[in-house]
Amino acid sequence: GFGIGSLLKETGLVTLDAGFTNTASCESAITYIDGDEGVLRYRGYPIEQLAEGSTFVETSFLLIHGHLPSESELTDFTERIQRHTLLHEDLKRFFDGFPRDAHPMPVLSSAVSALSTFYPNSLNPFDAEQVELSTVRLLAKLPTIAAYAHRKSLGQPLLYPDNRLGLVENFTRLAFGNPAEDYELDPVLVKALDQLLILHADHEQNCSTSTVRLVGSGQANLFASVSAGIHALSGPLHGGANSAVLDMLETIKNSDDDVDTFMTKVKNKEKGVRLMGFGHRVYKNYDPRAAIVKKTADEVLSQLGKRDELLDIAMRLEEIALNDDYFIERKLYPNVDFYTGIIYKAMGFPTKMFTVLFALGRLPGWIAQWREMIADPATKIGRPRQVYVGEGARDYVPLQSR
Ligand code: ACO
Repeated sequence: GFGIGSLLKETGLVTLDAGFTNTASCESAITYIDGDEGVLRYRGYPIEQLAEGSTFVETSFLLIHGHLPSESELTDFTERIQRHTLLHEDLKRFFDGFPRDAHPMPVLSSAVSALSTFYPNSLNPFDAEQVELSTVRLLAKLPTIAAYAHRKSLGQPLLYPDNRLGLVENFTRLAFGNPAEDYELDPVLVKALDQLLILHADHEQNCSTSTVRLVGSGQANLFASVSAGIHALSGPLHGGANSAVLDMLETIKNSDDDVDTFMTKVKNKEKGVRLMGFGHRVYKNYDPRAAIVKKTADEVLSQLGKRDELLDIAMRLEEIALNDDYFIERKLYPNVDFYTGIIYKAMGFPTKMFTVLFALGRLPGWIAQWREMIADPATKIGRPRQVYVGEGARDYVPLQSR
């Protein structure tokens, strides 16, 4: 038909859509969001049901392969992931090269980027068997890399994965375990962390996922594309928001300002201060993930018998915001990351690690979206146009004449 696309082509016009607020970059069958109604579904399944009944490994399979696995498919997928958790000893040495106080996000993306050098046979995006192997390697090794980045920042020894354990137990043991002792994380915490990973597992064409697709659209390999996605996630307006929320809550706690004074600053846009963990490009109603996380935060803190003043501050901020015209008019509600930091902190993760945990969760989404793109015959290299606003043609002036 003669759609807007061909009209623009015929006339040589381009659309200018800063931030792509109204431009679809692809067709996708993975995740559905209705931002006005607060609906999120992976492959048709409501996020609430997956958070309640599924596991992160099963949800990863669902996102990547499009259907819930049978028992044998799930066993096979789980076992394959468990077999691939070890890192090459040479890759392990990379961790010694970073400064002790290195932020774990660039350590994570560097290590993922480096993975491609260890698997040179896996770099053809159209070799389905190798792509499946890279998928499993990434799902298996990212938790190990993430845990090592954490240990390294503490100056603690790196443990070997224990492949009898599930993904979350293995990861937490690598992050917190002592080589000389058995390590067991409270099952309530294992379930909570597993659930948080499910909640982050995909969110259609967000900044990091679009990055993964864009890099992959040039037919760069899966490791390179995911490494780029990790960088995209790191910013405070995206995945970095979860640590920014905790920093914000700590600042309020330690300052002389009360919660109301802080909110006045936000509304007056003083020095660009925002209520971190609030607002979303797509959700103009409550983020359904935030509702689940808030409940989990309550459960985890009571299980641990920890009262956290930061949770009280967060709840008070939310209460003010939900009744304030500034936030109501702009449809600003808590997003998934408003309460996650409080849970991660209660589990013992330092603030720097929060965005790494987001990356662990988002990984299957990145992989699923990259694979969908590669398999889609309609895919073209991502190459946006621009509206040029610079100088017109002018003559070069030699240095001595300027
Ligand atoms: N606090 C205060 N005001 C806000 C906030 C906030 N958190 N978010 C948006 N606004 C205001 C803006 O100042 C703007 O006001 P104006 O119309 O008077 O200029 C209006 O609401 C619209 O905001 P935009 O920035 O245009 O909305 P956009 O869709 O571009 O941004 C974003 C969405 C980046 C999530 C934004 O709401 C934000 O910065 N939130 C805080 C950071 C955050 O929590 N990010 C996590 C996002 S979810 C995720 O990645 C998991």
